[in-house]
Amino acid sequence: MNNNGKLTIFIVATMFLCLVWSTNIWSKDDASACVELGALAYNNWISTDAGGSGIPSGEPLKDYLRCKSCHGWDRLGMRGGYVRRSRTAERPNAGYGDTDTTSRDIAPGMGDYYHIRASEIRHAGIGRAYEDGSGSWVDLAVDPTAHAAGYTLGNQHPDFSTTGVNAGDKLPTQEQVDCIALFVNYGDSDPKFYFFGIDYHADPVWYNIHPGANATAGESFYEQNCMACHGDPALDHSGMNGGKPEGGMLAFLRKDGKFSEFVHKARWGIPDTIMTRSTIGTPNSQDMIDMMLYLQESITSSFVITNGISGTWWDPQRSGEGFMIDVAKDGLVAVSYYTYDTMGHQMWVIGAGNLNGNTVEIDFELTDGGIYGSAFDPLTVNRYPWGTGIFTFSSCYVGKVEIIPNQDYSGIFEAQTIYISRLTMPEHCADE
Ligand code: HEC
Ligand code: HEC
Repeated sequence: MNNNGKLTIFIVATMFLCLVWSTNIWSKDDASACVELGALAYNNWISTDAGGSGIPSGEPLKDYLRCKSCHGWDRLGMRGGYVRRSRTAERPNAGYGDTDTTSRDIAPGMGDYYHIRASEIRHAGIGRAYEDGSGSWVDLAVDPTAHAAGYTLGNQHPDFSTTGVNAGDKLPTQEQVDCIALFVNYGDSDPKFYFFGIDYHADPVWYNIHPGANATAGESFYEQNCMACHGDPALDHSGMNGGKPEGGMLAFLRKDGKFSEFVHKARWGIPDTIMTRSTIGTPNSQDMIDMMLYLQESITSSFVITNGISGTWWDPQRSGEGFMIDVAKDGLVAVSYYTYDTMGHQMWVIGAGNLNGNTVEIDFELTDGGIYGSAFDPLTVNRYPWGTGIFTFSSCYVGKVEIIPNQDYSGIFEAQTIYISRLTMPEHCADE
């Protein structure tokens, strides 16, 4: 073989190796090391795994420094999982109850129209002093006026610049700030990718997972990468997970806003714990939506309606309207839906149906002809089939109603979906 031949073989072999190497990278995850570091620093920039070096002397509580505390795990502020998060002496929040209503939504979305910048993270000259974080907390019972003022102050973005009020104390490094910006701007981990809709009016927040998700693939990913430490998602488990989350993975996800936290921790790992990104199989965005769909379906299908759901239900955003639900022993469910017609008059539709696992289909009737008081005669009451309500419950305190008016009424009343929670909380349901 001449030299030219050897060279050709060498070039072909090199090209082949490059090809194998690059497809291998693509089939895993294309998140760069800087995106990964940024994700950990977004969670907690003072942690060692995120390149941090401990707590600043001006602020003893890390939650007053963490990006996620004020902007939410999903970076959506009050438009996401932190919509109802309270502020306490130990942690700030995304503005719920605040007098400063500036949005904490910093998620760019998947488009290229808006990106956050390192200088905005630094907040030179416009951020607060570390001392104003947890130090601003005054108990409501002690002094209501000071409480109100401190409440807002502690929620403000700290000055993270090397020239501002916190200069000389511990600050995020330049690498951390640059990598946090890269992570937040990374479309592949944007909440708009994971969820095609987040209904934060629903309590708990309802997540519509990306339609490209595959629950079967999610189940096997969970079994291969999470089970060893976390056990069966439906059960409480105490092993290499340090007993967390308490009550098991499904119980964790049933709580308010938790898919936002789940997707961050389960994709990037939790800094300074054994749950690092490499020990959990370096998940990519597809693995995340698959796993979330699997777990969300497990939450819903594992629930069985009992008379524990009897009571008054509503959508807190639609006060003045609601459902009275009564579950009888034989599985018959009676529902009264009090709402309004399209002219603004009060309207009740009433119906019944038989429960089936976690759902029940109610055939509603609209009535008229009855007369108030001693003139009442049941024979004068007319009944008109009005439509169907499909009720699905995923726990004893949250459900969804799909209202489908009958054809006769469909030109007048629109079909709609209402996310309901309890107006009245019975004792046995409250601590879920
Ligand atoms: C204690 C609460 C708090 C913490 C901690 C916090 N922020 Fe903020 N941040 C806010 C508030 C409130 C605003 C909106 C008002 C403002 O711009 O000051 C804001 C604004 C921003 C903005 C938009 C700035 C602009 O000019 O539009 C970005 C970007 C941002 N924060 C990123 C971060 C990152 C990244 C971290 C973590 C390193 C972080 N924030 C930590 C409360 C916080
Ligand atoms: C090597 C063991 C290990 C593996 C594997 C593992 N985890 Fe974890 N996980 C932990 C530990 C330990 C914690 C508690 C960390 C802490 O102290 O905050 C945890 C916490 C969590 C939390 C937060 C719970 C809470 O109450 O805050 C979630 C969510 C979670 N894991 C999801 C997953 C998912 C999903 C997988 C698989 C992709 C996974 N974990 C794989 C060890 C593991």
